[in-house]
Amino acid sequence: MSQASTPELIDIQGLPAVRLRARDGAQATVLLQGAQVLSWTPAGGPERLYVSEQSAYTEGQPVRGGVPVIFPQFEKRGPLQRHGFARNKPWTLLRSEVGRDDALAVLRLCDDEATRAAWPHAFALELTVAVGGGRLDLELEVEHTGPADAEPFSFMAALHTYLRVREVEEARLKGLRGLDFQDCTRPGSPLQPEPSAALAIGDETDRIYFGASQPLVLEEPHRGLVIESQQFPDVVVWNPWEAKCAAMADMPALGFRRMLCVEAAVIGEPVALQPGEQWWGRQSLVAD
Ligand code: BG6
Repeated sequence: MSQASTPELIDIQGLPAVRLRARDGAQATVLLQGAQVLSWTPAGGPERLYVSEQSAYTEGQPVRGGVPVIFPQFEKRGPLQRHGFARNKPWTLLRSEVGRDDALAVLRLCDDEATRAAWPHAFALELTVAVGGGRLDLELEVEHTGPADAEPFSFMAALHTYLRVREVEEARLKGLRGLDFQDCTRPGSPLQPEPSAALAIGDETDRIYFGASQPLVLEEPHRGLVIESQQFPDVVVWNPWEAKCAAMADMPALGFRRMLCVEAAVIGEPVALQPGEQWWGRQSLVAD
């Protein structure tokens, strides 16, 4: 049974965050800004998320790393700011509990004047972060909170997970073979099926895979990570590689070698909600 606990509120370079500690020692830290998970250490294990040491911890700007929440627009696929506004906004911590098997926190973001000026809809987002044993579970809920006669809205969303790797060229991502992907490094190029059973990263990679239906596995020579998702049909695989990384003010020159983004996303077919309707999607990371 879960017990409500006093959340352990901490300060990360001037920004408020909540630290979750499960009874078995697994931990996660969530920045209230953006409901951005910045750290995940499975029980008895090392850090599994990448956060750039050159991140600016600035109000209204996402930190470079962890798990930014992307909503209601992916990248520049619409009129809003890149990747939408949810990652830049202060979320509210609704509750925090420690149960027998995990510790969890629920954070919420609702529309306000600024979001309505950019995107004229009433919504509530909830992100539930649960950590315990070898697992991190992230569930995003979206609700249309407008009155019955409001317009429906549609959105894209992603959990933009930066996974920490020892050396990205040693890592292999399994489970994508046969899926059609768009190569965003070659705008306008046609969709193509993934030929490889074990994707190796050796150059700039920015791809959207559509219609994934099975768990992925990120294998490194010394460890593995299972990446499961529910109701997020698409997967984004991103690594900026050397030149783009060097041009990013918030990444160290060799940062691209320590990370691989594997994002659970809904992009190809945006979700449409009528007033009163809800949607949810989940990404789970399971360390071995
Ligand atoms: C990825 C996109 O999801 O996010 C990339 O596919 C993008 O194209 C990357 O560069 C990082 O975006 P940002 O806005 O956080 O720098």
